[in-house]
Amino acid sequence: MRFAVEEINNGTKNPNLLPGVTLGYTSYDICSLPASLLATVDLLVQQYQGSTGVTSGGGQRPVAVIGPDSSQFTLPPARLLGAYLIPEISYEASNQMLSNKQLYPSFFRTIPSDRTQVDAMIQLLLRFQWTWIVLLGSDNSYGLQGMQGVYEQAALYGICIAYQGVIPSISANMNRTMTNIVNNIVKVNVNTIVVFSSKTIVSRFFPFVINQGVTGKVWIGTEDWSVATLVSGIPRIHSIGTVLGISIQNATIPGFVEFESRALSALLSDRPKGTVAIGLKCLENTDLYSLALQNYSVEEYDVTSGFNVYKAVYAVAYALHQALGCDSGKCRKIPVQSWQLLPLLKQVRFSVGNSYVDFDKNGDPPTGYDIITWIWTGTQQSLRRIGSYSPDPVNLTLNSDLIDWTNGGYNPENEVPSSICSPECPAGYWQLQTGQHKCCFDCLACPAQTFANNTGISHCQPCEPYQWSPAGSATCLNRTILLLAWDAPLSVALLLLLVLTMLMTLGSGVVFVLKLSTPVAKSAGGKTCLVMLLALTVATASALCQFGLPTQSACLIKQPLYNFSFTVCLACITVRSFQVVCIFKLSSKLPPAYEIWTKNRGPEITVLLISVTILFITVLRVSLNPPQPSQDVTFYQDRIVTECSNTLSVGAMMEAGYIALVSGLCFAFSYMGKDLPANYNEAKFITFSLMIYMISWISFFAVYCISRDEFSMAMRVVAMVSSVLGILFGYFIPKVYVMVLRPQMNTTAHFQNCIQMYTMKKM
Ligand SMILES: *[C@@H]1O[C@H](CO)[C@@H](O)[C@H](O)[C@H]1NC(C)=O
Ligand SMILES: *[C@@H]1O[C@H](CO)[C@@H](O)[C@H](O)[C@H]1NC(C)=O
Ligand SMILES: *[C@@H]1O[C@H](CO)[C@@H](O)[C@H](O)[C@H]1NC(C)=O
Repeated sequence: MRFAVEEINNGTKNPNLLPGVTLGYTSYDICSLPASLLATVDLLVQQYQGSTGVTSGGGQRPVAVIGPDSSQFTLPPARLLGAYLIPEISYEASNQMLSNKQLYPSFFRTIPSDRTQVDAMIQLLLRFQWTWIVLLGSDNSYGLQGMQGVYEQAALYGICIAYQGVIPSISANMNRTMTNIVNNIVKVNVNTIVVFSSKTIVSRFFPFVINQGVTGKVWIGTEDWSVATLVSGIPRIHSIGTVLGISIQNATIPGFVEFESRALSALLSDRPKGTVAIGLKCLENTDLYSLALQNYSVEEYDVTSGFNVYKAVYAVAYALHQALGCDSGKCRKIPVQSWQLLPLLKQVRFSVGNSYVDFDKNGDPPTGYDIITWIWTGTQQSLRRIGSYSPDPVNLTLNSDLIDWTNGGYNPENEVPSSICSPECPAGYWQLQTGQHKCCFDCLACPAQTFANNTGISHCQPCEPYQWSPAGSATCLNRTILLLAWDAPLSVALLLLLVLTMLMTLGSGVVFVLKLSTPVAKSAGGKTCLVMLLALTVATASALCQFGLPTQSACLIKQPLYNFSFTVCLACITVRSFQVVCIFKLSSKLPPAYEIWTKNRGPEITVLLISVTILFITVLRVSLNPPQPSQDVTFYQDRIVTECSNTLSVGAMMEAGYIALVSGLCFAFSYMGKDLPANYNEAKFITFSLMIYMISWISFFAVYCISRDEFSMAMRVVAMVSSVLGILFGYFIPKVYVMVLRPQMNTTAHFQNCIQMYTMKKM
């Protein structure tokens, strides 16, 4: 401070600053709270005496206060000075409460607020991914507030505090508390310990750490203790592990070293030697002369704040410069009131060395910190700057290669120690918190159909509908689409079968057209047979809709077409069987109604009615609830079933019920005619056909219930075709055989012969 004032007065650095004005100062003992308060009151008294004309010290009156150093001794004085708007600039009081301008309107500082220090510590923890830490703080406002700050910020950044302890000041059971803290540190199995403490308190704590053999930890220190020789001078302290510290950004002030040695040598030559006790408790009330006597270089002492004091003095000088209007090159000789300096201080902006000085709206400097580490060469400690932290924008630059992690051989690989509760879960797993800490968790595999593509995920994401994943998956896989591709071998075989069947139905149709007038054709139903064969061909053709991806039109027509054409066929057989049974069984006692029915195209109308009914049901169902191409992703977890929606709707059930009714009737009438003459007796064949029809559909439904793959799709086609083939082989092929290969049986004579034999047998 003396150096800065003299420099300004001499105009050595900046001759334009306060030309013709000489600064003076009064110094006070501020090494305790009472002393600090006393100094403040004295200062205020001087202000009042000054303003009433009663002056002391030649009419000179302090306009601003530099200091005090510690927050503890600053808080009450700052409150008092604030009430009178007397500017105060502290160089070491970092308590973040002092940023509150409602309570401390005239307080400024050249040291960053502890808030910034907390942020720097958090960034340091994040840089090395230390998320499981112990937090210690000294039992004073510095430590408690700092701890509170770290606690709050840690929660925001996902850092968990395994254990939090308050290092006591000197008290009766201090030893027990200290031992307990160390025991707890050992118990929680943490590698990184943040110590927000003032140097005197922590210097009493470390001996306990050393004595209980705690080694190989990483200690993160505040600016107050990490650079203090009071702490690094503790015997055997190198065994505690790696120390990383936040430290005030320091700069060498040109000319200061010479000034210092000049002052010391002047002192030594002036004063007689004697024995003077040095009160190392507080540097600020230590006689420089006593220091010099003991060959104690000021530099060796922890003068980390020197540069901040220098900046504070210059800040006041620049404010005064404005108040006196010295920009013109000549300062006005007017009295300046302290409160007049306040707005000017808020605006000062200048540079000293290569650092800028100004104050934000809270009176805090926008400066950051240096990050340092302790380096040991034998038992000789030194500090090494490893990086810096700037708060705005937040930027932590760190060269971790400069840090010695070896801990004197405990960590020979020099690896960065980790301090985590649970290792991060790998991709494909999610973290289930165990207990109260977010950082402690179990890893659980993501369930099937979900994935976690990153490590350390707390929720698995669901896969897209067209994708799937097994349990514990980091990605989703595309599902296989199940369909009867046109070119798949199975499909080709089925298509061949379809074509063959259609050739057979059409071939039989041609034979029937050619031999329509023969007895066999007539007895089979004549033109009705052509309708039936056409219906069977259409039913077979409708199976083509089962191939490929289902389209809108395919879904609309495939079931109605098949059901309709097959029902037409069944209706024809039913009506014919009914007629045959009536004629042969009831020939003598046929009711007149039957006559009327046959005469008035009854059979054709009945077939038409039955067919129209199924058509009606089908059209109604399809129009009310049209089937759409759909993709079922629930049946298989890794495949997509392509099908048409509403396959199993109420309408579809009604349709099936109706067809079952018609087939039942058909079966009943053909069964009744089981003992008719061979030419009219298709009972066995028709029963056989209907059984094939039913068995194939039942097997299809059975397969469909348990499987929706290509095989079950093929089963549906097979069921359709085999129903057609059943009727074809049961009804038409025997007749085609007779018509083509046994023409001698296709004569009226042969038929009459048969009927005669039947009538004789009945008698
Ligand atoms: C200021 O000037 C005085 C007198 O010349 C000198 O003794 C003193 O060392 C100078 N101080 C500085 C800091 O230059
Ligand atoms: C952080 O600071 C370093 C050096 O101070 C600088 O090189 C770097 O660009 C800064 N980064 C950001 C993001 O500002
Ligand atoms: C993980 O998945 C999400 C959502 O699908 C995506 O936004 C992100 O880019 C993926 N991340 C990686 C690393 O693949």
